[in-house]
Amino acid sequence: MKEKILKTLKEIEGFISGQELCTQFGVSRTAVWKVINRLKEEGYEIEAVRNRGYILRGMSDVLSKAEILSCMETEWAGQNVVYFSETDSTNIQARKQAEAGAPEGTLIVADRQSGGKGRRGRGWVSPAGVGIWMSLVLRPKISTLSASMLTLLMAMAAARGIFWETGLECEIKWPNDLVLNKKKICGILTEMSTEFSDIQYVVSGIGINVGQTEFPGPIREMATSLYLESGRPFQRSRIIAGIMKALEGYYKEFAKTEDMSGLMDEYNARLVNCKNEVRVLAPSGDFCGVSEGIDKTGALIVRRPDGTRTNVISGEVSVRGLYSYV
Ligand code: BTN
Repeated sequence: MKEKILKTLKEIEGFISGQELCTQFGVSRTAVWKVINRLKEEGYEIEAVRNRGYILRGMSDVLSKAEILSCMETEWAGQNVVYFSETDSTNIQARKQAEAGAPEGTLIVADRQSGGKGRRGRGWVSPAGVGIWMSLVLRPKISTLSASMLTLLMAMAAARGIFWETGLECEIKWPNDLVLNKKKICGILTEMSTEFSDIQYVVSGIGINVGQTEFPGPIREMATSLYLESGRPFQRSRIIAGIMKALEGYYKEFAKTEDMSGLMDEYNARLVNCKNEVRVLAPSGDFCGVSEGIDKTGALIVRRPDGTRTNVISGEVSVRGLYSYV
């Protein structure tokens, strides 16, 4: 009920009386009053005026289950939200939820992670109040070989959700980092559980730097935030809901062919360094070439100086511009 009252307060222009809220949701005056008080405690600026009712003032970046659900406009993605003000890692929590039978689309969100995980065993700095740290449970009925493409879909969804809310156009650094002005704004860690050769579930964790005003020394040159790039604050809940909505669209398109046929043009249009020279750092040895974008399997096509083409498959490979991280 809390999310419904919150949604109404957000949608209504002007005041809404306590009586109207009671009638709309079939609850008592005391129940409405309690919800309003709880919302105030969470940080919403709600004004109560005698004989007029309640009004929601200002824009606050509150993060809670009710706040996230009040923004959600999806059919399945993010319809079941599990929220933590603090947890170790939303990927770990999402795996636990998935093991316990959570439905596809379950979304774990945390305000702070104490043990955020990055790719290749690295950590992910996840302080309170400034980032989106979330993981989505998927249960795709596809082959394990196709699963790596889900992470490309996530990158596209994150870019689109960020654009809808901020107007900022992120580029994708293959396979799934988002960058703004050549600095990393978002990372994605996708993990999969299989039984025999079937996918049991996939957990896709997204970390987005939203409100940071600075970064610690070692990552200052490489990382940025939506605030640093635009000078504006944003509501994380709205970006989260936008990403879920965008994902539903991409997932539907992906399901038609179980590959990137219908999505690769849009992906390549966002791909940083497409048609530029890149350096591929691979366990089998580094090489340079021109990036020609992804094919329908999600592999990056790189044309080598001798004209041959190599399909670079994600995994332990990193692709960079010639002179920097991007
Ligand atoms: C990367 O190394 O680029 C991937 C970073 C992924 C970070 C996100 S934050 C939410 C989710 N939970 C985690 O522990 N990691 C991912």
